[in-house]
Amino acid sequence: MDDCIVIKFGGGLITDKSMMCTPNHAVIDSLVNVVRDCLEDNLRVIVVHGAGSFGHLRSKHWKLNHGYLPDYDFLSQDDCKSQQHAVSLVRKEMLTLNKIVLDAFSKRGIATTKLPPHEWARNTGSNFDGNITKLFNNNKSVEITFGDIVDCDEGVFGILSGDDLVVRICQDIPNVKRLIFAVKGVDGILKRPPELADESDLIEHWSPSTEYSGVHNSEIDVTGGIGLKAIRGSEVAASGVDVFIINGEEPQRLLDACKGISTRGTQIFAE
Ligand code: IPE
Repeated sequence: MDDCIVIKFGGGLITDKSMMCTPNHAVIDSLVNVVRDCLEDNLRVIVVHGAGSFGHLRSKHWKLNHGYLPDYDFLSQDDCKSQQHAVSLVRKEMLTLNKIVLDAFSKRGIATTKLPPHEWARNTGSNFDGNITKLFNNNKSVEITFGDIVDCDEGVFGILSGDDLVVRICQDIPNVKRLIFAVKGVDGILKRPPELADESDLIEHWSPSTEYSGVHNSEIDVTGGIGLKAIRGSEVAASGVDVFIINGEEPQRLLDACKGISTRGTQIFAE
């Protein structure tokens, strides 16, 4: 069985986060090239992508991460009048972003299988319900899933982050060797906020006991930012998978990390 790697394309990396539903085609194309090089190296690749400006902005307005809030007095948007409507719009917007990612693969002749979580997953957090081993069974194509709004037992609906999906995929799929979080604008986890940090502030080895100043743009993000990646990454590292956070705008570093070659970035450890 080929070694498998899981890559999370951060939503902030593949979209322009400040503008509603704006993809970054150049970055998506360069990530697809990295995946193609991995396939040529006989790696099986599973891709999970985030939402960026396709999911966070509307989810934030309608507090979709808090579930159904029947008593909350929401301000209507021109194109959206209720939380339930927002759920269906965000699902549609995520399918639109997913299609852009799928198209970038098919343009290069790479076969994909799309797995939208609202069709097969229930509940949030890394122990969500969903039969990963049964669904992710096509190792002849790149299987692609993404952060999504899913139905929940409590709260009617909630946000299943791509950072939760990768944990379960790494734990449930046999032979996953590496998990790579491709992120925007930083080389990994930094000791100081990015605007104050210099080259020497990169934390090359991180575990939950490492002190750092993680940034989480809660003005925009409804899920957890780099802190969630670090914690989820350490859960994955505990099961024997090598986990890295890598600057997604540096394709050579990404490719090296995917192949297990040492490169600039943060490796996450369990402890
Ligand atoms: C968020 O998924 C999904 C929605 C808001 C619908 P992620 O948590 O994986 O997204 P990014 O990577 O932070 O954009």
